[in-house]
Amino acid sequence: MMEISKCVQKMKPSGIREFFDLVMGMKDVISLGVGEPDFVTPWNICESAIFSLEKGYTSYTSNKGLYDLRLAISRYLKNKFSLSYNPDQNILVTTGVSEAVDLALRAILNKGDKILIPDPSYVSYDPISELAGGKVILVKTTEADDFKLTPNLLKKYVSKDLKAIVINYPANPTGVSYTRKELLALSKIFVDNDLIVISDEIYDELTYDFSHTPLATLPGMKQRTIYLNGFSKAFAMTGWRVGYACGPEEIISAMTKIHQYTMLCAPIMGQLGAIEALRGSSGSVLEMKREYKRRREFIVSKLNEIGLSCRMPEGTFYVFASIKNTGMSSAEFAKDLLYKEKVAVVPGTAFGEQGAGYIRIAYASSMDNLKEAMARIEHFLK
Ligand SMILES: Cc1ncc(COP(=O)(O)O)c(C=O)c1O
Repeated sequence: MMEISKCVQKMKPSGIREFFDLVMGMKDVISLGVGEPDFVTPWNICESAIFSLEKGYTSYTSNKGLYDLRLAISRYLKNKFSLSYNPDQNILVTTGVSEAVDLALRAILNKGDKILIPDPSYVSYDPISELAGGKVILVKTTEADDFKLTPNLLKKYVSKDLKAIVINYPANPTGVSYTRKELLALSKIFVDNDLIVISDEIYDELTYDFSHTPLATLPGMKQRTIYLNGFSKAFAMTGWRVGYACGPEEIISAMTKIHQYTMLCAPIMGQLGAIEALRGSSGSVLEMKREYKRRREFIVSKLNEIGLSCRMPEGTFYVFASIKNTGMSSAEFAKDLLYKEKVAVVPGTAFGEQGAGYIRIAYASSMDNLKEAMARIEHFLK
């Protein structure tokens, strides 16, 4: 009899993937479900990867990632945020931010170490922390606080034996982000409680109403922050599988140790594409951002008009809309909407119990699709 690891047996399948198994095979569905840009990767990036293949760049790279990419990341963070990381000691290129999350958690958690994770939040933090042996404590955020972590809320959860916290902003699934002032107040709690902070800032370029402040730039934070970012969202490069982690040397070298046994390196074509992304794609990033912003304004006003209230998200390409006044559960609403109107959204509960009564809508879809989807949702509600 083969016995599967107890931890894996306990692990629930990803609520997003589970739901999208239903969508597969259905025709004419407008999918506002998966969090993936509807844009194709900018051509200069594709062209540079094609060219590199023609030149025969098909090998492994250094475990840490191509030096030129680490140098490009280091320069990019320095120019953009005055954030200094040494390409040799403080930067690791990973197979997407997904791998970076896994490595960061495994590098810091011992069995039973307590870690705070916001609820709702991106689907991997909780199961991967458990897999790494951590004891997850979910921080219940609510609509009354705009689904934000606040100092008052955090004070209820911190304790002497708390080791770490995961924070993600702009946030999947709520679209919430934090101003510098809000982050300063949170960082005081992180410093006072000597926490390691895994800060997933993968949506930083998609911040609409103010400029993004990386947590590591705040006083006392650089030495305790594992800064995660990647190319999937801002550069429309989900399939290229490139992300990176920056942080204190001992943490990055611990993460590199795991990475060299499990992944070896991120794909070389992806890494070469990423160098080009940082070199010459700021125009494309801005153009995509402008379009997302236009869609955000349309979708938020339309949802509120048809009775599904939602706040204006500060970032990402998600809105988190309340369906409480329909009397349906999130899963019932999403399934019914899919079967009756062929619009796919994700039940809020895929991101944690605090997502009950909400749905996540990704507006990474054309304006025509969004208009048609909103008309179908309006019809569904009637
Ligand atoms: C908050 C967040 N972190 C990480 C990821 C994973 O990104 P990647 O494609 O870089 O693995 C996602 C993808 O949806 C995400 O929303």
